[in-house]
Amino acid sequence: MQKWAMFTVFCLAGIFSIYLILFTLPSKEEAEQEAAFEVPVREIDAGAAENLLSQQNCIGCHGGNLEGGMGPALDKVGSTKTKEQIYRIIMNGGNGMPGFEDKLSEDEVINLSLYLAELQ
Ligand code: HEC
Repeated sequence: MQKWAMFTVFCLAGIFSIYLILFTLPSKEEAEQEAAFEVPVREIDAGAAENLLSQQNCIGCHGGNLEGGMGPALDKVGSTKTKEQIYRIIMNGGNGMPGFEDKLSEDEVINLSLYLAELQ
């Protein structure tokens, strides 16, 4: 009887480790990749960033002077958020903020993030 109990425990442990390997490890890797992602520092093209802010209607929600509206003010967003946080918010959106992953190129979002991170 005890042997059967041991066998069952071993099987469960085996199934559990397979589960861990299949599901936990890849997502942990993803999380590490995300944490390690850094927005590269480049020369900021302020004109291009300002054009995007109006073309993509960011200002429709964040105000013509980024003073805020339906969305929070962005005129000092660099003092509360890192360029990485800003990048992720623009890409993924959330809580009423649309994601721009499909609408903007990575370079455009990097330039926008650097531009906004400078506003402090
Ligand atoms: C439909 C309205 C809307 C549009 C369009 C929009 N946003 Fe937002 N945005 C929001 C809302 C609402 C939030 C607050 C989300 C939250 O609280 O998590 C937000 C949050 C943000 C934040 C984080 C601010 C903070 O202090 O937490 C940034 C940065 C931002 N938006 C940038 C942009 C940029 C850049 C664009 C244009 C490419 C844009 N947004 C377009 C509504 C909008």
